[in-house]
Amino acid sequence: MSASSSVLVTGGAGSHTVIELLNDNQQVVIIDNLVNASYEAIRRIELISGKKVTFYKVDILDEKALLQVFANHPEISSVIHFAGLKAVGESTRIPLDYYYNNITGTITLLQVMKKVGVKDIVFSSSATVYGDPPVIPIPETSPLGSTNPYGRTKQFVESVIRDLCTANKDWNAALLRYFNPAGAHSSGMLGENPLGVPNNLMPYLSQVAIRKRECLSVYGKDYPTKDGTAIRDYIHVTDLAKGHLAALKKLADKPGCVEYNLGTGHGSTVLEMIQAFTKAVGRDLSYQIGDRRAGDVTNLTADPSKANKELNWTAEIELEETCASLWNWQCKNPNGLEDCPGDAPPES
Ligand code: WQD
Repeated sequence: MSASSSVLVTGGAGSHTVIELLNDNQQVVIIDNLVNASYEAIRRIELISGKKVTFYKVDILDEKALLQVFANHPEISSVIHFAGLKAVGESTRIPLDYYYNNITGTITLLQVMKKVGVKDIVFSSSATVYGDPPVIPIPETSPLGSTNPYGRTKQFVESVIRDLCTANKDWNAALLRYFNPAGAHSSGMLGENPLGVPNNLMPYLSQVAIRKRECLSVYGKDYPTKDGTAIRDYIHVTDLAKGHLAALKKLADKPGCVEYNLGTGHGSTVLEMIQAFTKAVGRDLSYQIGDRRAGDVTNLTADPSKANKELNWTAEIELEETCASLWNWQCKNPNGLEDCPGDAPPES
């Protein structure tokens, strides 16, 4: 990216990657439909980075609005694509919304990119594409086999982008398979802001800690693991963000379509996460053992060696800091991020 170029970040409201891009003196244009984010998150990014960002309230399904953003910013030379629906459980209830938003939305974005000649994309994929993997830790060569509509949208979009790069040798793409994002920005000013009841472990546990939720239900204690609870690879959101920056820079090498696991390579059980977060909070947290959650697998732990080597990137933040940063965020923002009254975001 030359000094005069910009990165378009779709679904970038509240993105830790935007903070790392700004810290790296990149120019950033954010589009977001604000379905899963608040305009206050944009304000927080500007406060943390001390820099202005250009923001448009745009849905990736709106081809006309997308073309207008690129027309306003001919200096955009690459895209980091986060926009999409992302709750596994919800995807089983409203699969059509997930296929339409995540797949049709991405195809609309790619068609516009093709029209305007922007051919570098970093895509936010997910470890959920691995389904129930045969080998742990999981290499990128592990067979793909999503077990829910959300995961299937990620797997299908990976195929769309891979086929696009195969047919057009001047396209370059990095498909980033996240393991379990956790923690919050070290400032305590930006973190996960789930709407309604959190689906994921750590946001739910942190709401138990501020007594917004009564008790965490541990989904199953009969897995073949050291303590019977399932294992995941919890990676700090700032490490994840730095992985995006490294992947974006990798595209300058014209690699074609490449995929990378973004994880720590270290798995933690649910009970170990409860213990780690309890240490950060400093008092016991209420939990009970419940039934397994449909669709959950025993272990999703990354083999991150390909990203470590090819992106010169390694997750560095330890679990203790991840839990401390989440607790700091939750204490400072007990109600998450709320838009100040009358805060109408600028239209495109
Ligand atoms: C973690 C562990 C649960 C909640 C999902 C998506 C994945 C990614 C991250 C987007 C599991 C257990 C959870 C609770 C529990 N999202 N758990 N009680 O399911 O590993 O991954 O979010 O990229 O794509 O699939 O994350 O946080 O929901 O669950 O015991 O109230 O915690 O069973 O073992 P998951 P999670």
